[in-house]
Amino acid sequence: MSLDIVILAAGQGTRMRSALPKVLHPIAGKSMLGHVIDTARQLSPRKIHVVIGHGAELVRERLAADDIHFVLQAEQLGTGHAVAQALPALEADKVLILYGDVPLTRVETLARLLEQANDAQLGLLTVNLADPTGYGRIIRDAAGQVQAIVEHKDASDAQRAIREGNTGILAVPGKRLGDWLGRLSNSNAQGEYYLTDVIAMAVADGLVVATETAQDELEVLGANDRIQLAQLERHYQQRAARSLMAQGVTLLDPARFDLRGEVKVGRDVLIDVNVILEGQVVIEDGVQIGPNCVIKNSTLRRGAIVKANSHLEGAELGEGADCGPFARLRPGAKLGAKAHVGNFVELKNAVLGEGAKAGHLSYLGDAEIGARTNIGAGTITCNYDGANKFRTVLGEDVFIGSNSSLVAPLTLGDGATTGAGSTVTQDVPAKTLAVGRAKQRNIEGWKRPTKK
Ligand code: UD1
Ligand code: CA
Repeated sequence: MSLDIVILAAGQGTRMRSALPKVLHPIAGKSMLGHVIDTARQLSPRKIHVVIGHGAELVRERLAADDIHFVLQAEQLGTGHAVAQALPALEADKVLILYGDVPLTRVETLARLLEQANDAQLGLLTVNLADPTGYGRIIRDAAGQVQAIVEHKDASDAQRAIREGNTGILAVPGKRLGDWLGRLSNSNAQGEYYLTDVIAMAVADGLVVATETAQDELEVLGANDRIQLAQLERHYQQRAARSLMAQGVTLLDPARFDLRGEVKVGRDVLIDVNVILEGQVVIEDGVQIGPNCVIKNSTLRRGAIVKANSHLEGAELGEGADCGPFARLRPGAKLGAKAHVGNFVELKNAVLGEGAKAGHLSYLGDAEIGARTNIGAGTITCNYDGANKFRTVLGEDVFIGSNSSLVAPLTLGDGATTGAGSTVTQDVPAKTLAVGRAKQRNIEGWKRPTKK
């Protein structure tokens, strides 16, 4: 059975009060529509058709991909009209309708729904609501068979008392869809072509409407304003936190943890409060992350420790290595096993060998630093002349005195030393001391100036 998926994403989203189209507003760092597309992909459809209208150009630009077919709905005349715009491109046996502003539907729920749809049957996802205001209501006959959906604005008081709401998510036999959509009318309270009217037509044609119920309301919630967006964000983060705890991670406060991407975790990982993980992150067994850290596209090997308030991007910490508090590791920062980077140290494109240390207040860029080498406080690599970048290579067991300026390109051999306060502009051979500073003079009997 082949599958086409249609995602409705043409609506304006006035209540967002935003220049950004509603479906591009992010949940966990990814647009709502991006989440829906990712979920759709997991169902291996023939094609994903995204119906766009408001902000069409921007949506197209942000989400263009080989498997996405954009369909323009120039005027928003209703959900039925929206699906109709995609009709000429629909070829599959089954068509699944999703919504660009309903980002947290589980793929398992959709897979169950799809099993319900065949030539004689529709699959309709419904939800039982404490307050169904605004939702279309599911109308069943005495035998419990679905007969129709009535929109809130068109419903009688008795119908409004029904708590079973339409999620809008629907799986239909592709062959019949064109006929039904062609027969829709807009004579209703909103003057719109309702997709929901397809249900009564299907029943009249002798098809059965089989329902699936969403596991929880959150699966089918849309975001119409920034308050709902924030609620979805929290729900998403709670799900992410629970999943990590189930995998063996201790979160000191699951309510103060944010995942904006994907993370692979080992066991006995400890994450303190206010940690943000972004992009692709790998955290091996026994890693500890202190409070207020941002870790993006990074790998933390077994037993590594990230202390409070550190910011890592594109970095790797080797086994048992540690950084922080207040460390800044930028792309290409790589710490070997048991290497140590302390407070107010910035690394960019810099590799520290096993057991190497930069304890305090340093900038190390475009540098290769050998095993056990010690970088004194205040050391910087002068790697940039305003136009070009140059490398600094330090051998093993090098000792860089505090407040040294290492002017690249520069190579120091194994066991070399620099005196504190040196500006080092020439290579230093192995086991050699370099002193690059003015010699101190003591002036005896010198008088301090006094006020007139
Ligand atoms: C719709 C359902 C309602 C259901 C509710 C669930 C219909 C007629 N009603 O109502 O039964 O309970 O969703 O949230 O389907 N859209 C377009 N083009 C259009 C109109 C809508 O792309 O011309 C998109 C919107 O961007 C939105 C989605 O379709 O993502 C739903 O449209 P909306 O107007 O919000 O439907 P509801 O009135 O909430
Ligand atoms: Ca509407």
